[in-house]
Amino acid sequence: MAKNHLKGLFKLNLDEIAEKIRTCTMCPLSQSRTNAVPGEGKDDADLMFVGEGPGAQEDALGRPFVGRAGDKLTEILNSVNIDRGNVFITNVVKCRPPENRNPKSDEQEACLPYLEAQIAEINPSIIVTLGNTATKALLDKDRGITKIRGNFYNWRGNIQVFPMYHPSYLLRNPSKEKGSPKYETWQDIKKVNQNLTPR
Ligand code: URA
Repeated sequence: MAKNHLKGLFKLNLDEIAEKIRTCTMCPLSQSRTNAVPGEGKDDADLMFVGEGPGAQEDALGRPFVGRAGDKLTEILNSVNIDRGNVFITNVVKCRPPENRNPKSDEQEACLPYLEAQIAEINPSIIVTLGNTATKALLDKDRGITKIRGNFYNWRGNIQVFPMYHPSYLLRNPSKEKGSPKYETWQDIKKVNQNLTPR
């Protein structure tokens, strides 16, 4: 079923994909959402960020990363002078999982075609996956985020996937000491910035 809805999506532009997402009923998360959250940003961004799924504020506003985790993400971007408006930000699942639980595998499977279609349309050179869920959704890796973050992994030929810690994890681990998740993240975003090829 998910494969069928993928086929039609590849003919659509980003606005049309977003409209499909807003009216999607492919999984049970659609029944509890206030707003679906397709994602936002530059339609030909060189850099894309993929989180896990919308939280309460994202669900209320229909926009990605607008709560505390979003502020942290903006802070990370600002540390290397990357403007939020110059990247594209989205999630693995586009509707809020109740109580912010991890999205289930069938929910991810139903929603992944949208992410795939967005990636195909934007064609970024780097996709930063934020946390385990996004990383596992795109990369077939058994090891957790702590082990694989901070490195580039080739994805289907011409795109590099770069796993980083999820901003919510940094909110729970605020230490900036050398070797801390926050310290590593500030190094990671520098590495991303150095590898961007501006268009
Ligand atoms: N956390 C996510 O993974 N995505 C959001 O959009 C907000 C918080």
